[in-house]
Amino acid sequence: MEYSHKPVLLREVVSLLVVNNEGVYVDGTSGTGGHGEAIASVLKGAGRLISLDRDPEAVSIARKRLSRFGSRATVMKANYALLESVLVEMGLMGVDGVLLDLGMSSLQIEGSGRGFSFLRKEPLDMRMDPDEKTTAEALVNGLSQKDLERILRVYGEEKRAGQIARAIVEARKKAPVESSMQLADIVCSVMPLSRRRKGVHPATKTFQAFRIAVNNELGLLEKFLSKAPDLINPGGRLAVISYHSLEDRMIKHAMAAWENPCSCPRSLPSCVCGKRPVFFRVHKRGIVPTIEEIKDNKRARSAVLRVTERRIHD
Ligand SMILES: C[S@@+](CC[C@H](N)C(=O)[O-])C[C@H]1O[C@@H](n2cnc3c(N)ncnc32)[C@H](O)[C@@H]1O
Repeated sequence: MEYSHKPVLLREVVSLLVVNNEGVYVDGTSGTGGHGEAIASVLKGAGRLISLDRDPEAVSIARKRLSRFGSRATVMKANYALLESVLVEMGLMGVDGVLLDLGMSSLQIEGSGRGFSFLRKEPLDMRMDPDEKTTAEALVNGLSQKDLERILRVYGEEKRAGQIARAIVEARKKAPVESSMQLADIVCSVMPLSRRRKGVHPATKTFQAFRIAVNNELGLLEKFLSKAPDLINPGGRLAVISYHSLEDRMIKHAMAAWENPCSCPRSLPSCVCGKRPVFFRVHKRGIVPTIEEIKDNKRARSAVLRVTERRIHD
């Protein structure tokens, strides 16, 4: 079967994450299972892959794709922020590696019909997990102008947040904004021609902002990062691919803090707080795709991969 989603930094993820091919690995954002398939392919013996996704459509595709690995691969609908309870239910204390490939999949953008794309007329939903309550339509039509502006500015890093928020409020006075295309048209109406002509669609940041808000993406990432150190076995690794600076900043700061948790004042000659490094970054800088990969897969253009390893002795 052809899968529309091309896994980003695939070779790098497998070689940097799987340090023990008889270990237990978690793909916390399985999508259609591209990375998962490559990880499962290098496992042997007791090696095992646990794949999670909050989107039931992704889960059913990944389950079929990974079925050839039999009991080596388990795919389930779950939120990676709740990984601790997933592992407890499976009787696992920790795992040898976790991958998060954040954001959304090509399947969600192109084929879900849930309003992730500004190029199609779809209901303004944007929920990755249809069991969640808040939709983009509810936010776009229900939030105050001030809150709309804040979401656009903070989650979209959109310079024209104020103008877009005002245009949304004006538009919804006439009729509720119900489709993705309607929202894209509102954004385009306040964009100068220069931004309309650039390669990136003018509604990209607005759609990113509402998607992040609807799915509480930053809140869940923060929750995961606060638990992750305890879920990874000594010698195990965490690899995270992010696609925008908000997420990348959170990951970078968390990994740096695990590497250097000392809270002593700089004026002290040596550490007295007793907090010892728990992890070390495998590469100090984030790993980015090659030009060839970006040419072949536009989604890869903003990707940054960061990998950290838990020290054997904390
Ligand atoms: C970029 S795609 C992953 C693609 C995948 N690595 C592949 O190779 O096919 C991101 C996926 O993460 C899922 N996702 C996002 N946030 C999640 C969360 N908090 N818990 C579980 N899955 C999540 C999305 O539903 C989406 O399917």
